[in-house]
Amino acid sequence: MDLRRCGIHTRAVHAGERAERPRFTPVSTPIYPSVGYLYDEMADLDAVFAGSQPGYVYPRYGSPTVAALEAAVATLEGGAEAVATASGMAAIHLVLVSEGVGPGQRVVAAQDVYGATYALLGDLFRALGAEVHFVDACDLEAVRATVRRTAPRLVLVETISNPLLKVADLPALATIAHEAGAALAVDSSFASPYLVRPLEWGADYVIHSATKYLSGHGDVMAGVVVAGEERCQAMRERQKLVGGNLGPMEAWLALRGLKTLPLRMRQHLANALEVARWLAAQPGVARVHYPGLPEHPQHAIARRLFRPGHYGGMISFELAGAGREEVFRFMEALQLCLPATTLGDVYSLVLYPAMSSHRALTAEERARIGVGDGLVRLSVGIEEAADIIADLDQALGVGRET
Ligand SMILES: Cc1ncc(COP(=O)(O)O)c(C=O)c1O
Repeated sequence: MDLRRCGIHTRAVHAGERAERPRFTPVSTPIYPSVGYLYDEMADLDAVFAGSQPGYVYPRYGSPTVAALEAAVATLEGGAEAVATASGMAAIHLVLVSEGVGPGQRVVAAQDVYGATYALLGDLFRALGAEVHFVDACDLEAVRATVRRTAPRLVLVETISNPLLKVADLPALATIAHEAGAALAVDSSFASPYLVRPLEWGADYVIHSATKYLSGHGDVMAGVVVAGEERCQAMRERQKLVGGNLGPMEAWLALRGLKTLPLRMRQHLANALEVARWLAAQPGVARVHYPGLPEHPQHAIARRLFRPGHYGGMISFELAGAGREEVFRFMEALQLCLPATTLGDVYSLVLYPAMSSHRALTAEERARIGVGDGLVRLSVGIEEAADIIADLDQALGVGRET
């Protein structure tokens, strides 16, 4: 149709669109915000709907920029496929729903999973009628006993826990889950596939808050689940119904960030080891939690499962004799490390668990699980290690002076 002969409304809607059918290939995947997709023949659209032909029909069913991110993360994790979501929490929710965790069904989860995951299971899924059992994931006998007793659909753990950085024995947990017919889902947001690939250790799902290391620049919220073909297909079917899909702009940002994941991780991990060793030698620091230190309770597991010589970019440490006031003073004195409520960015970031992730717990409850009032979590960035250490040193000095 000759648009120039059409009315202004028609011209405004169609002019400039679809002028070119690409005969070129962009080097990096473009952002496809389009909600609809056209095919020359209706039979092709029908076949795409039926799943017998690849293609796109509507973003809740999948879209090209998101698919590029999914393919990239699946490749990095060594999985068959991946499904991207609007956030890490949406990814966890999708796994639970897709595995059939619902009324009368059981799920066993690590007791120190991320706070929102704990609430999702303990509040929302319990209210929906699911039976939720929290266990210490490092106590394999306790996990085995709970899994045998409850026969859950799913066992959910984190590779590295927050904020005490306990390392899960993934192959042992996979065996325990599989013996009872349960699937093992591993939230590996703190580790990234650079450090460890949980599918290779027997996990059935790997979950990421891609908001963290995968994207890495503190400018996008995203989630992703990597699993086998069948499980991904089941998740896509759920996603068609419940939404929670990732948008194309966010997918593009995450995909862009992902390209430098190994480079960033190399620097995060080298910096973290240096900073952890330095912190451990400071009189103002009572204790350092870092899987790379020989005294860490799961150091041997980390050595076995993680990339040789690498232990993650997250550190927690206890300021000696400190409470809320002293920690606030320390955090306010930092000039390079930013007190922001996230992790895994290029920037070094500090967080006070007693005020944020573990705020809902009483001081006694926090003390019982080892999250004392002097505990600070540090997400070590990719700056120079010496500069991070200098900043920590001067802030510890402020604490010493007062
Ligand atoms: C281990 C872990 N899993 C999941 C999430 C949730 O991710 P998002 O904030 O992208 O929803 C977080 C967020 O901090 C996290 O730390």
